[in-house]
Amino acid sequence: MLYLCATSDGPCQYNGDSMQQIHDGMDINERDFNHLVDLLIDAMNETGISHPIQNQLLARLVPLRKQIIYR
Ligand code: HEM
Repeated sequence: MLYLCATSDGPCQYNGDSMQQIHDGMDINERDFNHLVDLLIDAMNETGISHPIQNQLLARLVPLRKQIIYR
């Protein structure tokens, strides 16, 4: 949550480990990653976040895919 708050322009600041360090060795695959994205979209829809804003957040998270999958 803190990470998402920081990623969506704060005011929180994330000073934790990198996504690569955290997820290293977890064997997360493409399917796991896509599932998380689906759950996030469901949560954003339930909360009433507009699609343009959802897309902005997703666009910032998708590049993390490479750091999180298969490490
Ligand atoms: C964009 C996608 C993702 C982001 C931004 C993200 C972000 C994070 C962050 C910030 C933490 C550290 C939480 C803390 O400080 O305690 C974390 C931990 C973790 N993440 Fe992710 N994550 C992502 C995807 C995934 C996926 C796809 C999986 C597996 C299906 C996953 C599994 C985990 C697990 C197991 C932990 C450790 C939880 C713990 O030990 O407390 N993450 N993630």
